[in-house]
Amino acid sequence: MANVEQSEGVILNKREAVHRNPKVIAVTSGKGGVGKTNVVGNLAVSLAKMGKSVVILDADLGLGNLDVLFGVVPKYTLEHVILGLKTLPEIMIPGPCGIQILPTSSGSEDFTHLTPEQKLVLLSELDRLENAVDVFLIDTAAGISSNVLYFNTVAQDIVVVVSPEPTSISDAYAIMKILSLRHGEKRFKLLVNMARSTRQSLDVYRKLSLVADRFLDIGIDYVGFIPQDDYLRMAVFEQKAVVELFPGARSSVVFTDLADKVMQWPSNDLPKGNCQFLWKRLLNGSNSMEKC
Ligand SMILES: Nc1ncnc2c1ncn2[C@@H]1O[C@H](COP(=O)(O)OP(=O)(O)O)[C@@H](O)[C@H]1O
Ligand SMILES: [Mg+2]
Repeated sequence: MANVEQSEGVILNKREAVHRNPKVIAVTSGKGGVGKTNVVGNLAVSLAKMGKSVVILDADLGLGNLDVLFGVVPKYTLEHVILGLKTLPEIMIPGPCGIQILPTSSGSEDFTHLTPEQKLVLLSELDRLENAVDVFLIDTAAGISSNVLYFNTVAQDIVVVVSPEPTSISDAYAIMKILSLRHGEKRFKLLVNMARSTRQSLDVYRKLSLVADRFLDIGIDYVGFIPQDDYLRMAVFEQKAVVELFPGARSSVVFTDLADKVMQWPSNDLPKGNCQFLWKRLLNGSNSMEKC
């Protein structure tokens, strides 16, 4: 009996090691320039500092700049993967603290609206990658294009980044509305960036929850806020993550806390972010993906 239990234990451990469900998190916004790329980059480095294996995907196809944030120059990009010329591991470039970057090209219009076939190629590649990853962060483009909607539906958690500007708030509402009405997304995490105070940040959250409660059937979880921080801007100019260059800066401290929080978010047994699961849904003829 002891032997059976022991061998079952070994099998379970092996299974755990081979298949650890990664957290798949999309970072999105309605409006551009609100800080998505910086959130993804700094959160990734903070998670890596905690010993997590992190992959970041630049999903702003055609206008990606995650590589620029880290001062790395990609030879191959996601576009090569979509064309079937390269695999994801072949285009990956190492970033700070062991993070892995899946870069995209900049200045090409060809992939701004992925076809269903191109999405399938990407999905199956992601599927093969996910076992070795703890956290998979997706930096989406701004707006409500089909690519943005698609990458959000692939994720398990959707973090909506918003700044206190009224235009950013109304655009954040717009993206949540479309994701909820057209794609059945019901839960969003709100991260307020460039806020001056907790009060200002909570005010943004209240405004959005009020309209969402009234007009949409969704739940918005307040994740917190990242302060307006000149050190972050300086780090951008140095093409480094602020958590790396100025670990004591106010924003860096918040990113470190955020990384802790992220690791506490529950992971589902059948996560939406598990691409295998999506793949099966797709093969079973669910039309939810066709709408993406
Ligand atoms: N917390 C912050 N404090 C100060 N400046 C910020 C902060 N977050 C973002 N920025 C500024 O905003 C710019 C745009 O950020 P970025 O992450 O590229 O936005 P997005 O990816 O949403 O377009 C950055 O280059 C930086 O100068
Ligand atoms: Mg960006």
